[in-house]
Amino acid sequence: MTVPFSARTSWNLLTTKYADALQAMRAGDAPFFDLTASNPTTCGFTYDRAAILNALSRPECLAYEPDPHGLLVARDAVAQYYAEAAGAKVPSHRIFLTTSTSEAYSYLFRLHCDPGAEVLIAQPSYPLFEFLADLDDVRLVPYPLFYDHGWHLDVSSMTARITTKTRAVIVVHPNNPTGHFTSGQEREALEATCQQHGLALIVDEVFLDYALDSRAGERSAQRSFSSGEHPALTYVLSGLSKVAGLPQMKAAWIASFGPKALLEEANARLEVIADTFLSMSAPIQHALPYLLANRHGVQQQILSRVRENLAALDHTMMDAPVLSRLTVQGGWYAVVRVPALSNGEALAIRLLEEQRVVVHPGYFYGFDGDGWIVLSLLTPAEEFATGIERLVQFFKNA
Ligand SMILES: Cc1ncc(COP(=O)(O)O)c(C=O)c1O
Repeated sequence: MTVPFSARTSWNLLTTKYADALQAMRAGDAPFFDLTASNPTTCGFTYDRAAILNALSRPECLAYEPDPHGLLVARDAVAQYYAEAAGAKVPSHRIFLTTSTSEAYSYLFRLHCDPGAEVLIAQPSYPLFEFLADLDDVRLVPYPLFYDHGWHLDVSSMTARITTKTRAVIVVHPNNPTGHFTSGQEREALEATCQQHGLALIVDEVFLDYALDSRAGERSAQRSFSSGEHPALTYVLSGLSKVAGLPQMKAAWIASFGPKALLEEANARLEVIADTFLSMSAPIQHALPYLLANRHGVQQQILSRVRENLAALDHTMMDAPVLSRLTVQGGWYAVVRVPALSNGEALAIRLLEEQRVVVHPGYFYGFDGDGWIVLSLLTPAEEFATGIERLVQFFKNA
């Protein structure tokens, strides 16, 4: 008997050689050095366990009070977060809570896109987007970022990709994995383009609080899109996964901005989408104010880890001039230019098998050509230091 499956799920589900090699290594007993670790709950950070568990057992969560936006007490906490982190005034009635940033994307794709609609997204970027787009019958159209003493958005080549099917532009600020913030000038150009072509601007700020350069000149580029004017319909996405290092809590949000009439229509439709699922649980909504208020402890630990690992990377790489690290302004990742000894997958497998070092090849993130690897700066410092020493030795001897 056969039962048909949807075309949107006709993915190639065969494992790759890299995935097989990784699985074989993980199954063995010998130690390995994981330079892709990105789950903050397993990277050795200290969480205030009692505060987290107390927050999840508030008596208020015994009542069911459905609200498509999410409970006001939780949205007020998100508004407070923007006031503190970005100096921005975000009205609570413009906020929608979701169980993840991924769900937030899905709501917005549903809100703006019919099947076959196109959404522009910078490349390199985070690989999950492909699947989200497939599930919502949206076609992602990449627009290139270019590197010249830092990453830049080529606004004219982005604009050239706009067609009658384009509905939205996604910007990740700072971007994963390139770690660059959208500059003030780029923001203006993006907003003007979206306004002119009638496109929604979706801004993913999950890494906003992890800016690595605190010089005054840099701070203006690190401004949240929640602040300032909003000439275009704009959605700012974030969540506890990165803001509080708590991906398991499944709490995120959409803050919406823009010209009033358009924003009201968008909000009214979004309410129906959210009301259809009402996916946030009461315990997590009541916990949100406490979890957000406690974010600083983990954020500081993550920032020190990222800085320490970046410094170790630079120091160790001095021994191998064939490697170069690209500028990182924020986030949890570093991109390293390496000799293109073989294609990205073959190189990552050699590193696994010969050095027991796990890295992400650049093609995972849509880097052009070979010779790019992406490292997570969240890896525990000792493991990271050994891993990069092995990496450097490998390329020195290659
Ligand atoms: C840029 C970016 N957006 C969204 C997410 C997913 O966040 P969430 O756990 O809220 O779905 C990630 C996760 O790594 C990410 O890197």
